[in-house]
Amino acid sequence: MAKLFGSGELYHGLGSLEELKQIKGNKAVIVIGGSSVSRNGSLDRVEAILKESGFETAIFSGVEADPSVTTVRKGAELFTEFQPDWVIGLGGCSAIDAAKAMWALYEYPELTFEKMTEVGGIPPLRKKARFCAIPSTSGTGTEITALAVITDREKGVKYPLVSYELLPDFSIVDGELCKSMPKNVTANTGLDALTHCVEAYVSNIPDNYAEAMAKGGIQLIFNNIVTAVNTPEDGVARQNMHDASCLGGYAFTNAWLGIVHSLAHQMGGVFGVPHGCANAILLPNVIRYNAKATEGYNDLAKLIRCGEAAEEFAVAIENLRAECGVPASIAEYGIDEKAWMEAIPSMAEHAMADPCTGFNPRTTSVEDLAKIYEAIYHDVKVDF
Ligand SMILES: [Fe+2]
Repeated sequence: MAKLFGSGELYHGLGSLEELKQIKGNKAVIVIGGSSVSRNGSLDRVEAILKESGFETAIFSGVEADPSVTTVRKGAELFTEFQPDWVIGLGGCSAIDAAKAMWALYEYPELTFEKMTEVGGIPPLRKKARFCAIPSTSGTGTEITALAVITDREKGVKYPLVSYELLPDFSIVDGELCKSMPKNVTANTGLDALTHCVEAYVSNIPDNYAEAMAKGGIQLIFNNIVTAVNTPEDGVARQNMHDASCLGGYAFTNAWLGIVHSLAHQMGGVFGVPHGCANAILLPNVIRYNAKATEGYNDLAKLIRCGEAAEEFAVAIENLRAECGVPASIAEYGIDEKAWMEAIPSMAEHAMADPCTGFNPRTTSVEDLAKIYEAIYHDVKVDF
């Protein structure tokens, strides 16, 4: 028996932001990142809809990329002062992830981040407020995932908060909000979404629902990402990518991820490689590595009609990555070879300990992970 996890209620489609009028309450705090949601008009629209529904609103702005413990604590203080009964995370995944953590701290001010990372460490939420997610980037699917990643910059620690308590109550997936997303962000986040779908499809947790959603997401991404990158105003491509990101979120919140994410997390932490870009560099070679243990990629090659074998699927992803203007190797990304090679032993060890490693279809080792890191420096095809 399995349970399908996701958002309590989810609206999707161009213009679906208007459905925000469905939520009922008195006070809503809106958590945002930078100025993009102000510039593209979505913050004004969200505030207007909430006010028409009788809400008093407050805004917490300035959530940075890779949101910090300090920012989350500041947000929770504002929540305590304002006493919202709805928390609205609006914008990129950083704003929504930070809003989730602020919400948990607002409900339980004595919680520590160490405690929150434990299994069952977040007690039942919704005693004070409910949560609404409105993403403006198409990548992590945080609007329907049980995940938030928060960084303690002083300690140099990333806290992945994983709890079904963090699943939003209400989500809106409106591609209109993505039209102002820059080209490189569209490419990187879209390839992150592709990686979620592919890793969830081949993960060692069999789940018919997650696999169907992963396949749907992969088809949408192959058919729309290049248009979304090159024609930002194309609403249909934007909505299709937003839907694919959400489907990828459903897939991995139910079937988990694999070593592409384990390896990419280290590349982000040590060298600052954007998450989606790191995934895109890794994915074809991890497919070659994992293909020795799963037939799953053969299905995906047939699905997108590029052939019948894992290698053909890996090459199709390499071609798509090139069309999106994303680097094929670490050398092309611009990291010094000596610095990269020196960092490999420690990155491989940490990647082995990443929670995603346990769900990879092929049992791996620190040595194998190190060899994958070596191969991607010059984009050498993995064959072991
Ligand atoms: Fe990801």
